[in-house]
Amino acid sequence: MDKQIRRIGVLTSGGDAPGMNALIRAVVRTASAHDISVLGVRRGYSGLINGDIIEMGSRSVDGIIRKGGTMLYTARCKEMMSDEGLQKAADTCKYLGIDGLICCGGDGTFRGAQALSRMGVPCIGVPGTIDNDIVCTDYTIGFDTACNTAIECIDKLRDTMQSHERCSVVEVMGRRAGHLALHVGCAVGATAILLPERDIDFDTDLIEKMRVGRIKGRNHHIIIVAEGYGSAQDVADRIHESTGIDTRVTILGHIQRGGSPTARDRVMATRMGYEAVMALEAGKTNRVIVFDDNRVTDLDIEEGLARQKDLEQDLFVAQQTVAI
Ligand code: F6P
Repeated sequence: MDKQIRRIGVLTSGGDAPGMNALIRAVVRTASAHDISVLGVRRGYSGLINGDIIEMGSRSVDGIIRKGGTMLYTARCKEMMSDEGLQKAADTCKYLGIDGLICCGGDGTFRGAQALSRMGVPCIGVPGTIDNDIVCTDYTIGFDTACNTAIECIDKLRDTMQSHERCSVVEVMGRRAGHLALHVGCAVGATAILLPERDIDFDTDLIEKMRVGRIKGRNHHIIIVAEGYGSAQDVADRIHESTGIDTRVTILGHIQRGGSPTARDRVMATRMGYEAVMALEAGKTNRVIVFDDNRVTDLDIEEGLARQKDLEQDLFVAQQTVAI
């Protein structure tokens, strides 16, 4: 076995996601099993720039697999986009003898990893975001937990909407992507889902559907709005104007990012964390760990960022078909 990798760093960056702790644990424990020491970089790339580093060992990650958030904290670091910031980050790695870095987050995190790789710091990205909007991977750590959190909240909303025969317009996160909204909408049996990736005709695809639903005996509605689609309040106002139905708005917001990770996120984080360390140990750099075709594997970051990912069209059609 090539033992050039003696010390690695791990960081979480961008919006936190349930399962990031499970990822940190997997990295630390895999490295430890391979006699590689681990430094935890706190607050994402800014921790690298400012030297905010902690030593980690197998015992320092005890019990974190079930915890939401990230024990290393996270941040979005603008400084990393400048040559100066990048140089500082690379210098810290050199100074601390970091032979490789594992960076968990979204697209911005991968761009940082790519830039550092170019400067000679071997980097491996791991997809961690509730949005599942990273084009090169079918799955991102945190997505399943966020879906389940949203579902739990919306199931509760449905009870009261049904009792009052109201319409509930619920905004879910996802930034510019509708993956979270589509899965949540499908799982809660929404009447309609408004997504940034699909144009809908408000009158035929929504208002008419609600009218038909009423005739068929549906006395209440759940409408899911992806945050990237537009204002949930505007949607609610239009529904009320067109149908007269008493309509309420709920913005789930950051609650979707919290909570204990589901089995899927813990397992996926463990597999990806393990693969990330193995990739560094195999001498790889500028790679991202992906879940592709039911396999955890790795891909060139450049190639990964250039790929296209659309919504699951089959799921979209199925959801629309069974909605009423
Ligand atoms: O990328 C994760 C995410 O939660 C998005 O769904 C959302 O648009 C954004 O982060 C919110 O960011 P912030 O935590 O900065 O408010």
